Amino acid sequence: MDLFDRIRNNPGPLGQWSEIAEGYWIFPKLKGELANRMEFNGKEVICWSVNNYLGLGNHPDIRKADADAAAEWGLAYPMGSRMMSGNTDLHDELEQQLAAFEQKEAAVLVNFGYQGIMSAIDALLSPRGRDVVVYDAESHACIVDGVRMYPGKRFAFQHNDIDNLKIQLERATKIVEKTKGGILVISEGVFGMRGDQGKLKEIVELKKQYDFRLLVDDAHGFGVLGATGAGAGEEQGVQDEIDVYFSTFAKSMASVGAFLAGDKDIINFLKYNMRSQIYAKSLPMPFVQSALLRFKMLQDTKHKDKLWENVNALQSGLKARGFDIGNTNSCVTPVYMHGSVEEAMRMVHDLRENHRIFCSIVVYPVIPKGMIILRLIPTAVHTLDDIEESLNAFDAISGKLKGGEYQKEVAWEELYQR
Ligand SMILES: Cc1ncc(COP(=O)(O)O)c(C=O)c1O
Repeated sequence: MDLFDRIRNNPGPLGQWSEIAEGYWIFPKLKGELANRMEFNGKEVICWSVNNYLGLGNHPDIRKADADAAAEWGLAYPMGSRMMSGNTDLHDELEQQLAAFEQKEAAVLVNFGYQGIMSAIDALLSPRGRDVVVYDAESHACIVDGVRMYPGKRFAFQHNDIDNLKIQLERATKIVEKTKGGILVISEGVFGMRGDQGKLKEIVELKKQYDFRLLVDDAHGFGVLGATGAGAGEEQGVQDEIDVYFSTFAKSMASVGAFLAGDKDIINFLKYNMRSQIYAKSLPMPFVQSALLRFKMLQDTKHKDKLWENVNALQSGLKARGFDIGNTNSCVTPVYMHGSVEEAMRMVHDLRENHRIFCSIVVYPVIPKGMIILRLIPTAVHTLDDIEESLNAFDAISGKLKGGEYQKEVAWEELYQR
């Protein structure tokens, strides 16, 4: 069969919907300044779907710094990979500051979180497959893909299930005793769908019993959890025990780029062995220079305090109105409901068009059949009015969902209205 014929016949689980759903359900376009309210489909909506946690994305000082840095440097400099010709003092400076903040000896920048962590997993594990990697079954796709590249044994433990992690560690330990390899455990600081923190405290406790190193992806914890914003490790009092700390700049920093932090010799090893960095152009200067300002602002806890005021108002408001928000203990706020995929789509259409609320929707096959998750991401730039209006809207739609209103047939064209 021709390769392209196969692709055309099977566009994939999401691709199959592209013709009817693109622009509204998939690849929607949120327009205007990154803010609490943006424009969608020609109308103003309260936006609950971007990870602009600290509100830095649209902060005037940041917008100016981005523009100034672009004017000063352009997007090209420095050219080449960091190792060959793309290194600068500012890259080093940013790394030193990030390391100090994360209470680690050293840090290394990576251009994108996704490829960076994949590459770090690839570099940390033995190319001969002697090691064993043990990772949370609900890990972000970038961890799963990093693990997939590994030719040796890999065991997933049930999500945040410490007893199951122990079982996998027993299996892993037996293997590495023979291969003379090591064990890498991977968890997340915060799981981005459910909003529950990885059980880092319990995981590091297991170091007393088993010999392993811990890598934590703290994309949703960096800048927003812990007294200083150093993340989930700080929040749980186990930052020291995280052997390799990772975060992207894509969320609280509202930018592009990412970093890994840890012991000097290990970070140095990553610097010299992460293929995604050795063979790719280094992070352009405007990203690095404006990251320094973002990082300074991130450490000013007033943004984090405002964020948490909003998180608490939203989450306690939802709970008071009887909504199930699961066991989130982060800013990520999932609202669990029951209904079919069709009902979920009609409900979200109503939410967007009539209540002017834009949030992410998660349905089967990502979660079990019959479940719906509406996921809200509060930020420091939301207002208490936004929260009140959204709570009222959620009351209205959940009443309709329970009353069977969304079971009524609606022409697909209406739902796919753009
Ligand atoms: C948990 C987690 N890890 C990694 C990434 C990837 O980071 P980046 O967007 O910088 O590639 C994301 C998404 O941004 C994420 O949510």
